[in-house]
Amino acid sequence: MASISVSSAELAALEATLLNTSGTVALHDRFRALFTLKALKTQEAVEIIAKGFQDESALLKHELAYCLGQSRKPSVLPYLQDVLANVKEDPMVRHEAAEAMGAIGEMESIHFLEKYLHDDNVSVRETAELAIDRIKWDNSEEGKRHLKETEADDFIPTYTSIDPAPPTSGLLSGAPKPQDLSHASIDALKTKLLDTSLPLFDRYRAMFALRNIGNAEAVDALAAGFADQSALFKHEIAFVFGQLLSPHSIPCLVKVLDDNNESEMVRHEAAEALGGIATPEVLPHLREWLKREDAPRVVRESCQVALDMYEYENSDQFQYANALETVQAAA
Ligand SMILES: [Fe+2]
Ligand SMILES: [Fe+2]
Repeated sequence: MASISVSSAELAALEATLLNTSGTVALHDRFRALFTLKALKTQEAVEIIAKGFQDESALLKHELAYCLGQSRKPSVLPYLQDVLANVKEDPMVRHEAAEAMGAIGEMESIHFLEKYLHDDNVSVRETAELAIDRIKWDNSEEGKRHLKETEADDFIPTYTSIDPAPPTSGLLSGAPKPQDLSHASIDALKTKLLDTSLPLFDRYRAMFALRNIGNAEAVDALAAGFADQSALFKHEIAFVFGQLLSPHSIPCLVKVLDDNNESEMVRHEAAEALGGIATPEVLPHLREWLKREDAPRVVRESCQVALDMYEYENSDQFQYANALETVQAAA
């Protein structure tokens, strides 16, 4: 992909927006600056992103870690290691740092991640396990073959994200085949998804295979995952719904967002998925949790970002990550 050229003044303006140096930048605008920087894919951009870890917002910081992972640059590993090693940091941010290390796929990270297989926080432990398995898979025969395929000029991915696990082998890339859409195939994936005796990595592979199938039956199979015990597992289901953008998933996402007893990490992901789906029926729920005093900060802030996503989806703006146009207009 061709890189976008930006001047140093523009970069500085993006940095000021992301880091909110003026103290007046709304959180959702900081998110747009973050995703604009992510799209630049340069070393300068990832270094600016890493500066944001001094912030107070766990929501923002977990998204910084996510974006660093998606850059696939081994140069960002020291930043991620620092975040993961900081036991005072919010577990959602530490989780995302571990997951980002998995996305980068360096064998050397395995040793570091192993220390967190016994972390006090269950989401961090589970993520360390997943990230290790992801790195091992990336370096397996199948993983290497797949990477080569994705680097080819004519490769068009269904989803551009690097996920915590690849879809099940038959659904790794390309459109699902007719037999993948059969009831029996979806049911077999659902069984895998819900089988708590399997390693989390295998269950995640079924999850991303169901995402690639993406029809109503696959959405229902994924929704069954919300009955799981693991907050990490459930937040990933909600993340997948945010990629699928199927209105069919709205009722279960609203249920998750509205459930004050659900983990805030899961509710955060449900709010953002609803913002991406952006049909009128999601609005009252996002507006309600933006205002409610009993909403955890992460949920409130997610609703703010989600309402901005809603606005974008219902506008004629060309792209969500438009902070470059904003800083150019202000210059
Ligand atoms: Fe996450
Ligand atoms: Fe998230």
